[in-house]
Amino acid sequence: MLIDVQEFVARRACFIDQMELNSIAIFCAGEEVTRSNDTEFPFCQNKNFFYLTGFNEPEALLVLVKNALGQGQSTLFCRDKDPLQEVWHGRRVGAELAKETYAFDQTFTLEHVDEEVIEMLKHKSSLYTIHNENDGFDAQIFDWLSQVKSGVKAGDKAPSQLIDCSSMLAEMRLIKSSAELDVMRKANDISANAHVRAMRSCKVGMFEYQIEAEIHHEFAFNGARHPAYGSIVAGGDNANILHYTDNSEALNDNELLLIDAGGELEGYAADITRTFPVNGKFTPAQKEIYQLVLDAQIASIDAIKPGVSFAELNDIVHQVLTKGLLELGILTGDFDTLMEEKACKKYFIHGLGHWLGLDVHDVGDYDIDEDRRQNRAFEPGMIMTIEPGLYIPLDAEVDEKYRGIGIRIEDNVVVTETGFENFSLGVPKTIEAIEALMAEGK
Ligand code: GLY
Ligand code: MN
Ligand code: MN
Repeated sequence: MLIDVQEFVARRACFIDQMELNSIAIFCAGEEVTRSNDTEFPFCQNKNFFYLTGFNEPEALLVLVKNALGQGQSTLFCRDKDPLQEVWHGRRVGAELAKETYAFDQTFTLEHVDEEVIEMLKHKSSLYTIHNENDGFDAQIFDWLSQVKSGVKAGDKAPSQLIDCSSMLAEMRLIKSSAELDVMRKANDISANAHVRAMRSCKVGMFEYQIEAEIHHEFAFNGARHPAYGSIVAGGDNANILHYTDNSEALNDNELLLIDAGGELEGYAADITRTFPVNGKFTPAQKEIYQLVLDAQIASIDAIKPGVSFAELNDIVHQVLTKGLLELGILTGDFDTLMEEKACKKYFIHGLGHWLGLDVHDVGDYDIDEDRRQNRAFEPGMIMTIEPGLYIPLDAEVDEKYRGIGIRIEDNVVVTETGFENFSLGVPKTIEAIEALMAEGK
């Protein structure tokens, strides 16, 4: 593990600190998901469970208890060692080794879960869980609670307060430690190299999935075994489909290729987008739109520092895009009126960015007001994407030369004490640098 086990211990301690006296918290691991018949998708651990444990097996449970004196205890329940299952499906850590490796106070195999959890629930006043993560888990919690309640006549008491603790965990996850940032920097380096590889290997006539294969090779070969989300490899007008993942079509001369792809490393996501010409040279019209998106992206990134918010970055991006679209004749009218009407949203149809971390769209409150402005003030350790775009579909009522152009440029940026650090600089984004890179070896 790139993150030391003591950091996971400290996260559990931090969570316990925030629990009420005499309370219990229960978290479930992720489930294996069937792809078809008896084959499964690659396992992805539940991110909250992973954040608190580092433990990467399904069918596990973490229980945190805070007693009336404020002392905390962590318990992991996990699958037992099983030679037959392990021969077929892979090694299991087992309860004994899990206690030592992941530094829990105690561990049990799952056969003891009912009796132990019911005992731990008795006489606690509050129970913390995350609802709706997994239907079976919610039902299991209520089953345990009703079993505790059935002992009320014998003097048992069940927690009377159920607390959904997703926001407690979200706040913890939102501010990254330096070890987390090191992993995310590395995930970005690997992903940036994958984008460079895509630029180098791209040729007219190739298929989108062939470029996807180059990217995924670079991820996996360097330790990011899986993409953090479905990679988008969208040639020409396909870039105007925001979540295009078919990646099935041929790449045409004089068209752009938009790639939105990031690897997942030790559970942490990178999320980078680059848009470049399939044949290595931007057309004049592509250059105009590209430079506008790039100017907006750079202006908003340059404004990042503690205290600034997404709302303020959005204002900057709207100013740049509105002015530029007016100059190109794609928008017409009075600048102030267009700003007030948020007219550029016709072509910039998604948000400017989002928190990034264990989830690609990571957890954390944005402090959204009634005008839908995201007012959360940035703090050091928050990491976000900045991803303006312009999308002009083939049927748009604009000069023909702009039709079918879809451009997004996305970097991953962390807030520091004095400003920001951009993790995604390993892949070029100026017109000159992209054209120079693509000209190498051609
Ligand atoms: N790749 C998903 C996003 O950019 O939000
Ligand atoms: Mn993206
Ligand atoms: Mn993104």
